[in-house]
Amino acid sequence: MAVAALGVAACVGQVAPAGDPVRGREVFVSRDAGHCVLCHAAPGVGVAGDVGPPLARVGSRLGIEELRVRVADITRVKPDAAMPAFHRTQELRRVAPDYRGKPVLSAQQVEDVVAWLATLK
Ligand code: HEC
Repeated sequence: MAVAALGVAACVGQVAPAGDPVRGREVFVSRDAGHCVLCHAAPGVGVAGDVGPPLARVGSRLGIEELRVRVADITRVKPDAAMPAFHRTQELRRVAPDYRGKPVLSAQQVEDVVAWLATLK
């Protein structure tokens, strides 16, 4: 199952993203998917929030694995982060109110958005 697969991939340190950066950009801006623009500015993306850090050059600062863990469940590296966990497989205790009861990202959507973030060099 995809959810378990991502967890395993994150644990064993799989490196190559199977994601599509074009779809990943859509996840980033889409209200129905990540809606990451609510909090993050990024190159080539118009209106954006500033709750989170701008993501310009994030693909140079962070590797695929580091990007993946932050998108899937940022509390694993930063327990008090104000960013929702988008693909946590258990204990969804820090999902922001706006996200409660809504589907989080699928494993494929996480891979897609990670692939897009990796292009931001
Ligand atoms: C509710 C606001 C919010 C939303 C929505 C959000 N983020 Fe974040 N994000 C943050 C904050 C705040 C941080 C900084 C966390 C920290 O270090 O304290 C962060 C950090 C990050 C980082 C690490 C940046 C770095 O330089 O270390 C990445 C990558 C990231 N977010 C990607 C995403 C993606 C992709 C999405 C959509 C799937 C998303 N974020 C949605 C608030 C948000």
